[in-house]
Amino acid sequence: MTGTLYFFALLSCTLAWGRVGLWREGSARNETGGGSGDGCTCDAFLPSSTFPIKDLVGVEQTAEEISYRLELEMGKLEDYETKLTAYAEKIIKMTVEIEKIEKNPDGYNDADIDEIKVEIKQVEALIKELQLSIRGSTTVFESLHVQISSMEETLNRLEKTYDKNVVLLTRREYIKVQLQLEECERRHQELFNPNIGSCAHTGIVKVSKPIVSQLNAHLNAGYKFGGWGKDSKPVPDRESMYWYSGYSSSSIYDIRFYTNYKNLILRNHFQHHNLHSSWTGRGNNFIIRDNTLYYQINSPFGLAKLNFTTMKYESRVIPRASTRFSYAHSPNQNFDFAADETGLWVTYATEESIGRMVIAKIDEPSFGIEEEWQTSVYKPGLSNAFMVCGVLYAVRTVDIQNEEIFYKYDTKTKQETYISVLFERFQEKYSNLDYNPTDQKLYMYNDGYYVNYHLWFNHTTKATVEPPFLLT
Ligand SMILES: *[C@@H]1O[C@H](CO)[C@@H](O)[C@H](O)[C@H]1NC(C)=O
Ligand SMILES: *[C@@H]1O[C@H](CO)[C@@H](O)[C@H](O)[C@H]1NC(C)=O
Ligand SMILES: *[C@@H]1O[C@H](CO)[C@@H](O)[C@H](O)[C@H]1NC(C)=O
Repeated sequence: MTGTLYFFALLSCTLAWGRVGLWREGSARNETGGGSGDGCTCDAFLPSSTFPIKDLVGVEQTAEEISYRLELEMGKLEDYETKLTAYAEKIIKMTVEIEKIEKNPDGYNDADIDEIKVEIKQVEALIKELQLSIRGSTTVFESLHVQISSMEETLNRLEKTYDKNVVLLTRREYIKVQLQLEECERRHQELFNPNIGSCAHTGIVKVSKPIVSQLNAHLNAGYKFGGWGKDSKPVPDRESMYWYSGYSSSSIYDIRFYTNYKNLILRNHFQHHNLHSSWTGRGNNFIIRDNTLYYQINSPFGLAKLNFTTMKYESRVIPRASTRFSYAHSPNQNFDFAADETGLWVTYATEESIGRMVIAKIDEPSFGIEEEWQTSVYKPGLSNAFMVCGVLYAVRTVDIQNEEIFYKYDTKTKQETYISVLFERFQEKYSNLDYNPTDQKLYMYNDGYYVNYHLWFNHTTKATVEPPFLLT
């Protein structure tokens, strides 16, 4: 009831002042009948000691600041896009010129050659500028993510204490900047990451800070088991689709689809599928690939898939796989599906290897196991695992805040290596961690929160932004 009163009071303030921002500290309390003209009566409803106006002002100011910084970033991106187009044309012209010179060296004088050298210098300068900009933007994005996470925490705290309606307008501002950031990062990635899909690297060297989208679509922190992400091989028209499913136990019986990131955040699903009762699953290391859900089923114990294009189910039994070995922090995670640049995989442990992990490549058309690799890593010691470019990465928990990618197994060379790439969790535990080759990000379902990470690879070619022309 009081919450409703607050809500009306705040609305009338916003209307009376007609401002762009939603809140201003102090003004709600002391401008009654004051010189600002419109005579807002909010003070009648807003005892300063109980209303969190300071917090809301803080969140709102952060949103404005982020929005401004993102506009600058977007402006830069547009500028670079124009320059890149112009220089790409220039490079083509230069290539043609150089070919002509090579064919007929005598037809050109030193001045011609010098002109081309100057042009090459110009292109090199642009590349340097772009490289700096990429580094700069990545840092900006990281710091914006930190700010956005802290806004989210404040809003969650306020929503627990006060009527949700009070916080609603500020939450909308929060959602707006978050979508803006996502869009900016997507543009940035499209422009600057020609490496998507490439395996010309020797593995992961760094993981970003956790990028926290928000609490799951059920707004239920008790839904600790589940997953979220994108289709790793999307069918046409579903390229920007996201999926989510979350539960309070380690099972799977339904899944929701969102047309894009915005609708995921707004919790507007366009499809909600319930698995048929005889096809419900266990464990939460499921994935969506080619519009198909791959998951673990318990009767009979094995692999299952549901193709959402045809709504057809299929299952396969893996006689060697054991029900006894799960990941360290959650039960029933016996099969872990993964998808990367090279296809579809599943990992599990066997009795004969006493809990050590087996990697299996799945032949997608037949849903059969194509080949298996025995690793030496003990599954119950891991918190999760995922595949990138045919290499298994195993992750373990280090302490209350940190995870470590500590082991990798290359299926091409059968070589195993101990490594150490640390990254932070947002909340204590997680039940689903997967790589997505379409954006080279890691997706984690972290105690009910949607979390993802950027990855950095050790590139074996210099081709990060350099046009192939300059590689020689
Ligand atoms: C109103 O706020 C201003 C500045 O925040 C302060 O100087 C002034 O004393 C306040 N007036 C009343 C009546 O509280
Ligand atoms: C799902 O069904 C469609 C339509 O028959 C088919 O083209 C596609 O390959 C199937 N995908 C999987 C993963 O089974
Ligand atoms: C990156 O790869 C090179 C060789 O390909 C290796 O010498 C170097 O140590 C690697 N760097 C890291 C951080 O793994």
